[in-house]
Amino acid sequence: MLKDKIEIAEKEALTAFKAAQNGKELYEAKVKHLGKQGAFSLLMREFGKLPPADKPAMGQLINEVKTRLEENYAQLEKELKLKAYDEIIKKEQLDLTLPGTKSADGARHPVSMVINEIVSILSRIGYSVRQGPLIETDRNNFTALNIPEDHPARDLQDTFYIDEGHVLRTHTSPVQIRTMESEAPPIRVLAPGSVFRCDSDISHSPNFHQIEGLLVDRKVSMADLKGTLTYFVQEFFSKDIKTRFRPSYFQFTEPSAEVDCSCPICKGKGCRMCKNSGWIEIGGCGLVNPKVLEHCKLDPEKWQGFAFGFGVERMAIIKYGVDEIKLFSENDVRFLKQFQF
Ligand code: DAH
Repeated sequence: MLKDKIEIAEKEALTAFKAAQNGKELYEAKVKHLGKQGAFSLLMREFGKLPPADKPAMGQLINEVKTRLEENYAQLEKELKLKAYDEIIKKEQLDLTLPGTKSADGARHPVSMVINEIVSILSRIGYSVRQGPLIETDRNNFTALNIPEDHPARDLQDTFYIDEGHVLRTHTSPVQIRTMESEAPPIRVLAPGSVFRCDSDISHSPNFHQIEGLLVDRKVSMADLKGTLTYFVQEFFSKDIKTRFRPSYFQFTEPSAEVDCSCPICKGKGCRMCKNSGWIEIGGCGLVNPKVLEHCKLDPEKWQGFAFGFGVERMAIIKYGVDEIKLFSENDVRFLKQFQF
């Protein structure tokens, strides 16, 4: 009987649908049972041979079965899709509480940190930054600063010569000349930057940094210079630091002094950093030599000035207790990391 065959075909199709594990298997089951080569196609052929009187009832039955199977298919298809989504979600689940991938933090180089801090401290009393080129004229680096031709500082051993008239600047002092020649006083400037000397050992590097200070005004005295540098040192290290000015000699200042501060490490008691003296030298200074003013076309009767120059690495060494200047130029991350405050 065709009716029985139809019921069996429906059951078989349903069983095959239910057995499908995913959308693809389900679709294959549909093709197999309801497709052109499937059981239902064969039954349709048998249906064609039925006497006309039997056709309406049987036709209705076939349609009902087909509709049921289609509905069933649609339902299972939906369920399998949801199951597939669930699996994807499970597999690709993001745990938002897991720690993220950390990128390495960059930080300022200690030399930049010291320069920034010095500039910040002195900008509070009116100083602003000027810069000059690393390749300087012989005249700005030496002659205009009153360093005569036969001076040992010009010796080939200390100076990197570019050509007859040009050197890698050996100090930041030529920025004094550039400033006085291009700006009218009163002047209060700082010139931080790279300097070069043909010199290399544990405490000397051929390339290091200095910061130059220059003030030009009417009636400037050593007392102004001492007050300014004492203010600076106490802001940079700490309020209890004392300063000491020892007479010295620089061509571009008169009088000249070397500035010491009481050792910030041992507070003056004596330690390795201050070689047990309780004092540490931090730079040179003095009143601008009238000859330098004249080189810059400033009348020494009207204008006076003071200047100072510190080694930046030296300040960093004292402030952070580092004992080798080369560490500042080697860029070893293990060293630099210690300055990520
Ligand atoms: N230019 C000097 C040097 O490189 C440092 C210096 C000393 C700078 C005295 C100054 C100063 O401005 O007044 O050794």
